[in-house]
This record gives sequence, C-alpha cells and structure tokens, in this order.
Amino acid sequence: METKLLTSDTAGLAAAAALLKEGQVVGMPTETVYGLAANALSTAAVARIFEAKGRPQDNPLIVHIASLEDLPPLCREIPPVCARLAEAFWPGPMTLLFEKSELVPDGVTAGLPTVAVRFPAHPVAQALIRESGLPLAAPSANTSGKPSPTTAGHVLADLNGKIPAVLDGGDCLFGVESTVLMPMGTDRVHILRPGGVTAEQLAALGLTVTVDPGVLIEIKPEEPALSPGMKHKHYAPKTRLILAEGPLEGFYRLLDAHKNESVGALVFDGEEQGLSVPWVSYGAENDPAAQAHRLFDALRALDGLGVDTVYGRMPKKEGLALAVYNRILRAAAFQVVQV
Ligand code: TXA
Ligand code: MG
Repeated sequence: METKLLTSDTAGLAAAAALLKEGQVVGMPTETVYGLAANALSTAAVARIFEAKGRPQDNPLIVHIASLEDLPPLCREIPPVCARLAEAFWPGPMTLLFEKSELVPDGVTAGLPTVAVRFPAHPVAQALIRESGLPLAAPSANTSGKPSPTTAGHVLADLNGKIPAVLDGGDCLFGVESTVLMPMGTDRVHILRPGGVTAEQLAALGLTVTVDPGVLIEIKPEEPALSPGMKHKHYAPKTRLILAEGPLEGFYRLLDAHKNESVGALVFDGEEQGLSVPWVSYGAENDPAAQAHRLFDALRALDGLGVDTVYGRMPKKEGLALAVYNRILRAAAFQVVQV
C-alpha cells in the first residue's frame, strides 16, 4: 500500500474523511501528538488501528469528538466534575474517562466498562471529525513501543506502506500526549497519565488531585493498573537510554568515567558545550514546554548517534515537566543512576 501525504486543505480533508467513512485509518495531526484515526463506532475500522500499530489488544483507545454535543451518545452519564473539567480545558490536551454507552464497541475500550474521550483543539483534527461525521478513535500514530510522532514525517517513518494516508498539520504544539483523568466522586480527579493539562491547573479549579503511582514508578506485569497503557513498553529508542539524576557537574563526571565506551548524551540546550561525545538536546533546563515539544523527536534522534548507550539529563517533576519526566522514564525503561 502506498501511503499518501495529504495537505490539510479542503481537498486533503475531503480525501481523508472519505477514507475514514470507508472504514480506513488515517494519520491525523492534533495539538498533542499525531493520532492514527478510524471510525470509533466500527469494530472492523478500529481493528485496523491495532493491526497497523502492532498494538496489544488489551490497550484501549481514546475517542475524539469535535463538539460537546458529540459526548452524550458515547457515555451513560456526564458527572458534574467532568462537566466542569470539560468547560475549563476542552477543547485541549485532556482526556476524560466515562462509563461507556452501548454505542461504543468493546474493541475501542478493550472490554473495559469505561471509554476515554478527548475534544482536541487542533483545527485540522476538528475539521476531520466534522467532515467525516464520526467520532474518531485514535491512539498515537507510532508503531507500538516507539516514541510518539510529533510530525507527519515521524508517522511515515513508522507506518509508511501500512496505512493509506497521513494528513500533514505541521509540528504538534505540545509534543506530549494528553492528560488522562479518572473522575472520582464530586470534586476529585486521579491523573492516570500527565500531559498538557497539569496537576497545578487542575488544583486551581478547586479539585483534589491525586497522581497514580504508575506515573512515577514501574508497574509490574502481575500488578493491576487503572490504565492498561501504563504497563506496556513505551517510547523506547533502539539505543539504550540511562537517566542521570543529580547536578550537571555529576553528569559530566559520569560521561567522563565512560568516555572510552560507546556513549552519547541527551542534554538540555547549552550543556553540549565542551562535550566530547555525540549528543542530542531537548530544550532548555527551565523550559518544560520546549522539552515537551522536542522530547519525542530527540528520542528518535538518539538512534542516529551511532552509540550503544546514551546518558540523559533528568527533567523536573512539576507542572508540564511531570509529563516529560513520565515519558523519558519509560523511554529509559526506568533505568536511573544517581550522580
Ligand atoms: O494526546 C493524546 O491523548 C493522543 C492524541 C492522538 O489524542 N492519543 C494518545 O493515545 O496518546 P494512546 O492510545 O497512545 O494513549 C491512550 C492512553 C493509553 O495509556 C490507554 O491505556 C489509556 O489512554 N486509556 C484509554 N482508554 C482508557 C480507559 N477506558 N481506561 C483507562 N485508560 C484508558
Ligand atoms: Mg501512545
């Protein structure tokens, strides 16, 4: 199959919408990462997503809508806490869990009683949902286990020949996936995956915010997880990545101790000065938005360094940096050394 790169103009949108209506999958830009979209109401269309990505069958998908009016048919009820969250953060990088309605096939939710829903802010994603007239199931448009795609080129690098088309919407604004939230009672939310909507922003709404342990530590295969995606291998470059926790001087000493081995460095902007090993940078140390925007591209670039092991600088754990931390920790398969 030849994969078409469609421009996001009227003709490109019409072609992508036609493919979706036929039950095909299409790469779609969003403000977080590129998604691999298909008709969320069709079991056969959704199965094509799992096939193209090589996605484990037990990992459920997010359903994307382009208006609050698209939500009620997908869920049994809209709890007041979700209505407040939707008003504050939709359209935007936030996914909410609802009790699913009969309309949502089990293939979308991997048999779970809940469905994850997001109203993306990207105008091309909204236009595609409207033009197709369908709610669109869409996981990140990468091969399962690889870094998520933040450009149409990343989608092609993974899925060229496996999907009919990608709509090109340029670089994704946030660069990390949406915040996945489980509402609890009347005034609590539980963060299953940190993202563009931060814990601090949620707390500012007056909500009690808890962060799932799986965000910060490894959940073993035999342990239960509230979000199946937390247990799967994620974001991994082929090159081994090890994170170094501690000050920059300690990081430089670590590299020095390994200078006779095949090593590289993943650093913050400016820290490459004077490095004698190949490096990739991912934003300034105090700029989590830039780190989020560049992380997945940087992880993909590690495989071009031609080294066996890359030592990486650790992001902070507050605000948007928590999302960066959560992704890079998984990319490093939870390998952290103190320096
Ligand atoms: O920003 C995003 O969320 C992007 C764009 C394309 O919208 N999508 C995305 O999808 O990141 P995906 O499939 O790569 O990640 C979805 C996450 C997975 O960790 C999955 O396990 C979790 O959401 N999830 C989906 N439905 C769920 C459910 N019913 N209960 C718990 N977790 C769920
Ligand atoms: Mg993903």
